Amino acid sequence: MSSYENIKENLAQKPRTWLITGVAGFIGSNLLETLLGLGQKVVGIDNFSTGHQSNLDDVKEKSGAQWQNFSFYEADIRDLESCQKACKDVDFILHQAALGSVPRSIEDPINTNDSNINGFLNMLVATRDNNVKRFVYAASSSTYGDHPGLPKVEGKIGKPLSPYAVTKYVNELYADVFAKTYNMETIGLRYFNVFGPRQDPNGAYAAVIPKWLNNLLLGNPCHINGDGETSRDFCYIDNTVQANLLAATSNHSEAPNQVYNVAFGDRTTLNELYESMRTILSDHDSHIAAAKPVYQDFRTGDVRHSFADISKAANLLGYSPSHNAQQGLKETAEWFIKNGFND
Ligand SMILES: NC(=O)c1ccc[n+]([C@@H]2O[C@H](COP(=O)([O-])OP(=O)(O)OC[C@H]3O[C@@H](n4cnc5c(N)ncnc54)[C@H](O)[C@@H]3O)[C@@H](O)[C@H]2O)c1
Repeated sequence: MSSYENIKENLAQKPRTWLITGVAGFIGSNLLETLLGLGQKVVGIDNFSTGHQSNLDDVKEKSGAQWQNFSFYEADIRDLESCQKACKDVDFILHQAALGSVPRSIEDPINTNDSNINGFLNMLVATRDNNVKRFVYAASSSTYGDHPGLPKVEGKIGKPLSPYAVTKYVNELYADVFAKTYNMETIGLRYFNVFGPRQDPNGAYAAVIPKWLNNLLLGNPCHINGDGETSRDFCYIDNTVQANLLAATSNHSEAPNQVYNVAFGDRTTLNELYESMRTILSDHDSHIAAAKPVYQDFRTGDVRHSFADISKAANLLGYSPSHNAQQGLKETAEWFIKNGFND
């Protein structure tokens, strides 16, 4: 049996209490769905700055009777008192709340800093004060910055290329210092381009996969920044959820107080991504087969290539991603087709 199957079985037999920050967001709501499905007790906090009530409604519908194991605080992690309340009697924290997006951080560094650094610090203090067993947090591949090495290994980072990347790096520094100073257990998961159901396709800062799926389904053009040879290690949400549960519960003595790459461990160019999506969606609507992308300038702050070495997470956490990019794309496309799309 895999480490993940083992852990799921163990959790189902002995339920714990989890706090998910950013629970109304894309990754947070997927974590919630999995944990409720395993009979866990879950507390959530979100200020709906980028998350949606509809994500919670979707999970409610899927969870049936398990929904009663969820309690929600509509609150802001920039408020320490709210963090303290949410952390009470919690075993594990999966901290997802932050303002994502490199371009947003370039346009609005102050608000990005407030949620991503001040809010993060509040969460660390609340974790410490409530004796939470382990604080697992969303770090980011943007921390690799201008380091040219490929694949990315955790110990070799460059200089950050955006305010967002600075905030995610500062998170790692704070988590490390808190672990040493207050004898806490923290684990940072450096996510690489996560995608899947419930990811927001709308707005100026939408991620590429939901945005393109939506545009293709609506017959709108898809824009590629640069020549399309920029590559990413696209990571399906189920892999990300798996990494979070393993990180929170791993008994390996060297697992805590580290950062880990969370990705599939392969690279896909934007041109390849577009082609795959067009092919998958053509089965749904044959008109899509003729769609063509529109090329535009490279975007400031974007790294050219991103591709992870996932051996550290495999060795210390037992991480073994279940979906490659292509398998994940098929599931995501099906979800977007079923759940509607809007302008
Ligand atoms: N999606 C990715 O590819 C990716 C890659 C690297 C890192 N991350 C990180 O993963 C985490 C989750 O990202 P996501 O893609 O689910 O984004 P998301 O925007 O869907 O979710 C973030 C959630 O946090 C909430 N939030 C933001 N600021 C808050 C605050 N001050 N108080 C309370 N709630 C707040 C939002 O309302 C939202 O529901 C973020 O920390 C993000 O930086 C994501």
